Amino acid sequence: MLEEIKKIEDSFLQEIEKVKNLEDLEVLRIRYLGRKSFINQAFSRIPKLERNQRAELGRALNTVKKKIAFLLDEKRKTLSVQEKKIDLTVPSFSIDRGIKHILTRVNDEICSIFEKLGFIIIEGKEIEDEWHNFEALNIPLEHPSRDVFDTFYLDLSSPSKEKRRLLLRSHTSPSQIRVMEKMRPPLAVISPGRVYRPDKVDASHSFMFHQVEGFCVDRNINFSHLKGVLFYFARSFFSPQVKLRFRPHYFPFTEPSAEVDLGCILCEGKGCSVCSYKGWVEILGCGMIHPKVLKACKINPKEYQGFAFGMGVERIAMLKYRINDIRLFFENDLRFLEQFYEV
Ligand code: PHE
Repeated sequence: MLEEIKKIEDSFLQEIEKVKNLEDLEVLRIRYLGRKSFINQAFSRIPKLERNQRAELGRALNTVKKKIAFLLDEKRKTLSVQEKKIDLTVPSFSIDRGIKHILTRVNDEICSIFEKLGFIIIEGKEIEDEWHNFEALNIPLEHPSRDVFDTFYLDLSSPSKEKRRLLLRSHTSPSQIRVMEKMRPPLAVISPGRVYRPDKVDASHSFMFHQVEGFCVDRNINFSHLKGVLFYFARSFFSPQVKLRFRPHYFPFTEPSAEVDLGCILCEGKGCSVCSYKGWVEILGCGMIHPKVLKACKINPKEYQGFAFGMGVERIAMLKYRINDIRLFFENDLRFLEQFYEV
């Protein structure tokens, strides 16, 4: 009998370890201390035993019963604390998920539209030298057009033997040179990234902003290819009804050159504060790549032609989402950024 009691105790100790919730604990309690349990039934057998055995068995049963009851109680306490911690009826709290910055998303969307047309993405460098930012793009030293692309210069010169000054690129057009120096036509490339100009910061200017450069070089490329690609972009990005206007312009690295205006999507051409009551908003610069630029990259302009365009990401994002101050992009005020959760 005493041996059996020991066995019961051992198996109880093993089983209680495995109990993980209050319900199972109650089942265990009934099995070991309930009316039909071994221990309870053993008590009822005591009076039938010999006098000297009664006391011994009674003590042994009482000890094990107390021990089991104590352990059940302890386990109940720990389980009820744990179960309270994961009360499934408590309403859940929301977890703030990070999202991509609105500029990143607009940039990605622009790039993916061109990728559908077969353009590949190649990023340029933010620290450039004068050759790539100016000279190879037909902007000679001391030429007044350098003023247009006012530039932050670094106190360093390039490690190449020409020792040209280093600078923060003032546009993404040097990516054209970087790619054409290394790769041969046919080329259709899109090159996004940051650019820097020492502009005074106001609602429409920032000393750092983003551009997306695009260009295509092959045999028999002409201006209508450029128009087709830009119309495809504008219709996909804004709306199929959108209007574009190509206005003659001057860029040293394209000939002929144009600025492209978008029929104001806010007032639909009627005139509003966004388009300064003109009905049109300038969105990009473009043109046919100047033969001198191709020559600078050792591409024969008699054999190959190309078009190029460059657009400002902030300006395009501002138009699409009716944002009236460029500084909002860079202040990281969550009240502004969170508005684009659902975009
Ligand atoms: N690089 C020009 C700018 O920053 C834009 C441009 C790119 C114009 C390519 C023509 C061709 O204003």
